[in-house]
Amino acid sequence: MSMLTDRNDGAQAPMLSLLNVESAYGPIKAIRGVSLKVRKGEIATVLGSNGAGKSTILKTISGILDPRKGSIEFKGHDITARDPAFIVQQGLVHVPEGREVFPLLSVRDNLLMGAYTRKDRDGVARDMEMVYAYFPILQERAQQDAGLLSGGQQQMLAISRALMANPDLILLDEPSLGLSPKLTKEIFEIVVRINRERGTTILLVEQNANMALNASDYGYVLENGRIVMEDSCDRLREKEDIKEFYLGMKEEGVRGERRWKKKKTWR
Ligand SMILES: Nc1ncnc2c1ncn2[C@@H]1O[C@H](COP(=O)(O)OP(=O)(O)O)[C@@H](O)[C@H]1O
Ligand SMILES: [Mg+2]
Repeated sequence: MSMLTDRNDGAQAPMLSLLNVESAYGPIKAIRGVSLKVRKGEIATVLGSNGAGKSTILKTISGILDPRKGSIEFKGHDITARDPAFIVQQGLVHVPEGREVFPLLSVRDNLLMGAYTRKDRDGVARDMEMVYAYFPILQERAQQDAGLLSGGQQQMLAISRALMANPDLILLDEPSLGLSPKLTKEIFEIVVRINRERGTTILLVEQNANMALNASDYGYVLENGRIVMEDSCDRLREKEDIKEFYLGMKEEGVRGERRWKKKKTWR
């Protein structure tokens, strides 16, 4: 499943690349020289604990936050600090942390909001059927206000709304946040199906390293705003530091988290 080929072989330009990107909130430097690549058709993941800078990376890519330094290329074009609406039109959509749906709009109208820039009405209708096939519960709840959905259903809606833009690349911010392990597993399975069946490229950021490593092809580890390790997910899963990290997160909670934060060197 995973790509063991050399990612720098030049055979195919990456769909998305970040080069030395720095972003800050006033005096707080949140990411410090992040470089990463996402290849067409893959699921790439950025793993990191709370506050590592994962959401900041996605906000900087989607144009919500302008970087202080560095550049971002999408499908061969420079999109650094471009307007978020322009970036969506290029085929790059962001599912933010905390699944921000419009609570007072119906499920169906939330989905249509995702397609608001599209002119191909037949395509929109087809994609509506497609998301209902992935998430049948959304069809059952189509006329209800989105605010009445459970957390898991809102996450499904947020992903579906992104799909309604017919994107080439989806940025997915911690879909597991606040969800039960069972729902998280369900959602990850569908994300993988969307990637395999539709060829949609995905950049996923997660604290849940176990789920993310199983779903993804290639991974980056982010610590204090810096990428400290990258490799195929097959290989990352075998690394002791990674095992400690996600077992620690899974079974030891805060103690695991401390151990992770103390660790300074990654090999
Ligand atoms: N709106 C904000 N204002 C000030 N600091 C922020 C803001 N958002 C995030 N930060 C800080 O930037 C750093 C990275 O945050 P974030 O990208 O949200 O991390 P993650 O998504 O990995 O949890 C943290 O130190 C966080 O406190
Ligand atoms: Mg975050």
